[in-house]
Amino acid sequence: MFTIAPSVLSADFANLGAEVTSVIGAGADWIHFDVMDNHYVPNLTMGPAIAKAIKPYCVTTNGSSVPLDVHLMVQPVDELAVAFAKAGADLITFHPDAERHVDRTLQVIKDQGCKAGLVFNPAVPLDGLEWVLDKIDIILLMSVNPGFGGQSFIDSTYRKIEKAKRLIEDSGRDIRLEVDGGIKPSNIALVANAGADTFVAGSAIFDQPDYKAVIDDMRSRLAMC
Ligand code: DX5
Ligand code: ZN
Repeated sequence: MFTIAPSVLSADFANLGAEVTSVIGAGADWIHFDVMDNHYVPNLTMGPAIAKAIKPYCVTTNGSSVPLDVHLMVQPVDELAVAFAKAGADLITFHPDAERHVDRTLQVIKDQGCKAGLVFNPAVPLDGLEWVLDKIDIILLMSVNPGFGGQSFIDSTYRKIEKAKRLIEDSGRDIRLEVDGGIKPSNIALVANAGADTFVAGSAIFDQPDYKAVIDDMRSRLAMC
């Protein structure tokens, strides 16, 4: 029910394959992959070639595949979304304020066989969401301003999570509610109690020596929600 999605943004980029293997061994459910273009956000990270390179590592020791959750912080979106789908993305989310024709972009992603979702920055309202709820598989709420790992969780996100959760429940659809930014063991239960089911965590996991200890700590706190 609860999904923990470590963000490799905070991993050791010189050892990305090994980092993915080790965080999956530590209990990661998904691999969160942050794509920044130095245009939509003031930072530059990884392209489709790197997604393709880590895709073979997105697997458990039993051989089951671990979804590659691609978070596009780019503008425009469509062409890169297709490139990431071809590189092996399982889910692709994008920011609606980065693309003029949101409904079409969702369709572009679905046509590639990927799950699709929208991402809302802290100051961006959920307006418009109800008109595309039938086309999305995931809503991603930013709990920091996108662009960098290691920032502090913005508290107004809790109310936004509650609001998004109500929209999902009213729709009766099976839509995941993911939250990204500043999540750590000490606040993950609050995020879950507000209504989130999927948790991105970068620095909280990769800045610690023992990834499994952090993920286990997160899971034990979620178990009490
Ligand atoms: C920020 C990214 C996040 C980031 C989260 O723009 O979308 O996924 O890696 O990092 P932490 O968990 O360190 O806030
Ligand atoms: Zn992200």
